[in-house]
Amino acid sequence: MTTVDAPPAPGAALRFPPGFRWGTATAAYQIEGAAALDGRTPSIWDTFSRIPGKVLGGDTGDTAADHYHRMAEDVGLMRRLGMSDYRFSVAWPRVQPTGRGPAERRGLDFYRRLVDTLLEAGIRPVATLYHWDLPQELEDAGGWPHRDTAERFAEYAGHVAGALGDRVASWTTLNEPWCAAFLGYASGVHAPGRTEPEAALRAAHHLNLAHGLGVRALRAALPRSAEVSLTLNAHVVRPLTDAAADVDAARRIDAVGNRIFLDPVFHGRLPADLVRDTAALTDWSFVRDGDLAVTAEPIDWLGLNYYSPTVVAAAGPGTPDGEPEPSPWPGAGGRVRFLPAPGPRTAMDWPVDPGGLYELLTRLRDELPGVPLLITENGAAYGDHADPEGAVHDPERIAYLRGHLAAVHRAIADGADVRGYFVWSLLDNFEWAYGYSKRFGIVHVDFATQRRTPKDSARWYAEVIARGGLAP
Ligand code: FCB
Repeated sequence: MTTVDAPPAPGAALRFPPGFRWGTATAAYQIEGAAALDGRTPSIWDTFSRIPGKVLGGDTGDTAADHYHRMAEDVGLMRRLGMSDYRFSVAWPRVQPTGRGPAERRGLDFYRRLVDTLLEAGIRPVATLYHWDLPQELEDAGGWPHRDTAERFAEYAGHVAGALGDRVASWTTLNEPWCAAFLGYASGVHAPGRTEPEAALRAAHHLNLAHGLGVRALRAALPRSAEVSLTLNAHVVRPLTDAAADVDAARRIDAVGNRIFLDPVFHGRLPADLVRDTAALTDWSFVRDGDLAVTAEPIDWLGLNYYSPTVVAAAGPGTPDGEPEPSPWPGAGGRVRFLPAPGPRTAMDWPVDPGGLYELLTRLRDELPGVPLLITENGAAYGDHADPEGAVHDPERIAYLRGHLAAVHRAIADGADVRGYFVWSLLDNFEWAYGYSKRFGIVHVDFATQRRTPKDSARWYAEVIARGGLAP
């Protein structure tokens, strides 16, 4: 359990507990490039990004930040910034190109080199197995709505654990299964771009199942001391008013946004209200006997990715002001209106609201006692550019990070067991449907030359790490 001293006096320095993990996060498809090298096959993102109109500017991850070739330089940057941890993801189509069967040694070798370079730099590797780059062959066989994909994931997890288990102590099965299921298969704004609400609910269940089977495969291959986790983008949902209809709208979004994962993973059950809300779409008979015991395999911590809260209100059934179709909220879409939250915004048009992070951490403190939490992503995109001297000044990002770290500190002071904080992201990168138009890095990347320039926020974050907290 992490603790901090009594609440700091206003204006005092905010010191984090000893051993607090400070890092940054990235994902394979967003930074690696080298899309056709060393046996890697297309993932659903390689396919999707080639469909005209799906990704801004027609951008793809073909080259991205060329991290595949610049890995040593990137680890050097982290070392100079003083990171204790680095959260990266493994590209499934690099390691198991057809999504089944034997592993590709050259793909595994890249991650062996990455991990060895990190360890030499004194940085703890935190490996995520799935950050959305499903091998295209598995999508062609049905994708996440198809149960077999969960079994395939467990096989893949075993390959990676077998190769890296002697040197990686922290593991995450899935990143944000909500996005994989509902942006991928319901609203279709992410790969593979399907708009089938029932299939999206199946996908969510099969992602939970993949997580549980993956935990088992990891435990079977890893030393007992290894930590195994899951990362969710748990939504902070606020009703516009406390009128019963608005509160019910928030309940619906909480069910299909959060409890659809939290309940199977931590309680071995499906939320009863979710089953009711989605009754017109499915009878959930794809959930087989025994599945919910698999999804509930114990894990060592929960990773949380937080960016901003969501405000909702009721839309009368059938009224045109509900969430437009196709919606990423099966069973809730037509009944819920999403409203702009007040306050300043990032370049993603996401509201800046550190209070939401405090709400999330204290909610989970109460609902999941004994489960340590890690902020596996938090950060912001702004319109950064290098000035004539080559410097990148990003005061808004520093303010964003500072505000959110203060919220984490307050949650810890109030009893939340938060073990670490990872900035999204180390590098500017391929921001999914937004392509390279949104810059989240604390290190600027000039995509024409691949030159890296630490932004002011990188230097600021290095000071926070060195100090173990925030200056007054
Ligand atoms: C999260 C994703 C991550 C990144 C940030 C901005 O949903 O996990 O890859 O795109 O959003």
